[in-house]
Amino acid sequence: MVGQRKGVKLKQKISRALGPAGVFFRGFVEHPVMVGSIIPSSRYTIRKMLDRVKWDECKVFVEYGPGVGTFCQPVLDRLPRDGELIVIDTNPLFIDFLKRTITDSRFRPVLGSAENVEEIVKACGHDHADYVLSGLPFSTLPEGVAPAIAAATYRVIRSGGAFLTYQFSTVARDYTAKHFERVDKGFEWKNVPPCVLAWGWKD
Ligand SMILES: C[S@@+](CC[C@H](N)C(=O)[O-])C[C@H]1O[C@@H](n2cnc3c(N)ncnc32)[C@H](O)[C@@H]1O
Repeated sequence: MVGQRKGVKLKQKISRALGPAGVFFRGFVEHPVMVGSIIPSSRYTIRKMLDRVKWDECKVFVEYGPGVGTFCQPVLDRLPRDGELIVIDTNPLFIDFLKRTITDSRFRPVLGSAENVEEIVKACGHDHADYVLSGLPFSTLPEGVAPAIAAATYRVIRSGGAFLTYQFSTVARDYTAKHFERVDKGFEWKNVPPCVLAWGWKD
């Protein structure tokens, strides 16, 4: 018991010393399939994804799988003052890290699964989301989870809003195309590895 507690403390010390990259790497080592990547997204990916958002029409922005928050500050920097950023992650290590490091009053970190986005958005006091961004590894999620997330995402987004995905394969984009009326496609080479970008628009 004492040995176990010492081990946990040592892990916490190591991740604090290594910063966000260390916490992300630890998250990958502990849950490789759920995290799906050892390096957070590049600033080129972040800029390209967020450039298409109509920020003046955005009040509720939801992010799935924020990890250590690579997208969070750039989203908060663009979000109107009365907006809200709700981030949902299944990994308590990441949610605890985000709670400790981001103190913006518009920021709502939630421990949970993206499948439950409708309940989570309701619990935060909203009927719909304007935009949803996903960094989820769609190809390696447990059976049935990816289609459930795609369907719930379509329902939760208001008309005129969009579902933004970036992934190393086209799987997230393919799920988006099953629900959303129009899908814009993109690609970012300056990311490790390069990734497929997609914006699914709801008419
Ligand atoms: C590739 S990482 C994304 C990291 C970060 N967004 C970035 O751009 O660097 C995938 C994240 O999805 C989370 N995740 C996996 N399944 C999930 C689910 N069903 N709901 C919410 N988050 C999930 C993982 O815990 C991890 O933080």
